[in-house]
Amino acid sequence: MTIAAKERVLNINTINPLIKNVEYAVRGKLAIRAEEIRSDLEKGQGKYGFDRVVSCNIGNPQQLNQTPITFFRQVASLCDNPDLLKKENLALVSQLYPSDAITRAQTLLKSIGSVGAYSHSQGVPHIRDTVAQFIKERDGGHASDASHIFLTQGASSGVQTLLSMLTENEHSGIMIPIPQYPLYSATLALYGAVPVNYYLDETTGWSLDIAQLTESVTSARKQGTDVKALVIINPGNPTGQCLTAENLKEIITFCYEQRLVLLADEVYQTNIYEPETRPFVSFKKALMDHPSAEVREGVELVSFHSISKGMVGECGRRGGYFECVNLDSQVLDQIYKMSSVSLCPNLHGQILVDLMCNPPRVGEASYESYSNEIKTIYESLRRRSKKLEDVFNKMEGVSCQSAQGSMYLFPQVTLSQKVVDAAAKEGLAPDAYYSHAMLEATGVCVVPGSGFGQKENTWHFRSTFLPEEHLFDQFCSGIEKFHSDFLQKHV
Ligand SMILES: Cc1ncc(COP(=O)(O)O)c(C=O)c1O
Repeated sequence: MTIAAKERVLNINTINPLIKNVEYAVRGKLAIRAEEIRSDLEKGQGKYGFDRVVSCNIGNPQQLNQTPITFFRQVASLCDNPDLLKKENLALVSQLYPSDAITRAQTLLKSIGSVGAYSHSQGVPHIRDTVAQFIKERDGGHASDASHIFLTQGASSGVQTLLSMLTENEHSGIMIPIPQYPLYSATLALYGAVPVNYYLDETTGWSLDIAQLTESVTSARKQGTDVKALVIINPGNPTGQCLTAENLKEIITFCYEQRLVLLADEVYQTNIYEPETRPFVSFKKALMDHPSAEVREGVELVSFHSISKGMVGECGRRGGYFECVNLDSQVLDQIYKMSSVSLCPNLHGQILVDLMCNPPRVGEASYESYSNEIKTIYESLRRRSKKLEDVFNKMEGVSCQSAQGSMYLFPQVTLSQKVVDAAAKEGLAPDAYYSHAMLEATGVCVVPGSGFGQKENTWHFRSTFLPEEHLFDQFCSGIEKFHSDFLQKHV
């Protein structure tokens, strides 16, 4: 027998078994089917009652034609092509680029050198200084230490680094919300740590109750889990809630009392749609404002941010950062060592972090156009969020909490026994069956609630409200029609 015909050395039975436990619904079965349909449509194959696939399964704004912020791309392009900044080209370039884009690119290149070179493993020091300044301004003057900031390839890689640091052994537990963004459950499955679930309360707008956290940590510890950290996603994904300052304070006190590291996923901090009643408050600010000095100095906090969300939406550039507060210095050394193993976060992402954290200021050449672009995207997102929420709430058997923040709605759908039986026949959860049917009927790809976790015998799906505004009515009426046809078919 030839070697080729023998069983492969690397086969499904010999890979790391933990990898097989990883599930990531956002890009799961439904998304794969959506890609097949997209490819059919491009080739003119297959028969579908729609002419495009609308990917509402992922918060990826530019995939749905959100325009990039001009100033950001101007600076990025100058950094990519430094020839444009040569003396002999500057006169011409000044006709195409505003002066502040040119000066920013010059400043960045001075500290970076070339975007084609590895940078400091923790991220370019100048850009970390920009982030520290941003955090200080955002948090009402509380200082931030640039040497405790790590630039990352999107927030995801930062989260993975921290979860790996926290997994001491197979008894290590991390508290995660249910429903949750599946980066957390997937990464815990990969590292072999224990997810310790706590439930958000749908009836009160997905609020977070300390009694629920206490119950969850107590029962996990009773069962022998060494619970080490609490993950909070604020504003929530998929749930869209934005926590109050009072709630943040309680959570911080809880972490102090229970000796838990607090991981604050704050990637949606500028996607805030009810700013008067539910403004965003960072965990860093809440910690620094905590009345007890012991708590302020005792709670270990890591907070994550990203260029993928907000009005920036530069998901493909893979940029982000995390800030560490009150972490042991030897742990910081180990985080640094692990960052060095992957050499450095990509420079394009780092540049966007600099721009997100230090956008054009009043009086600078790009300020007006920059603010108009941000405002236009923000207002449109807010309108679309309200419109889709109304549509969901008008649909029979559907109830939907409003998105105080983030990019998602997570409606609950009542599904009949006929649906439950039909889904079981196909080996699907009822909400996955519903979501597949929606994709086949409308081209709209959502994610079933079972991919995020949900209370038993409740069914949900998550949809972004990112489809283009000029096509939004059509998008909404497609979903409404699908839903009523689906109900009729399954009475
Ligand atoms: C809550 C949350 N955290 C982290 C991420 C990861 O974002 P990125 O790695 O693109 O920064 C996402 C992406 O959707 C998210 O929703």
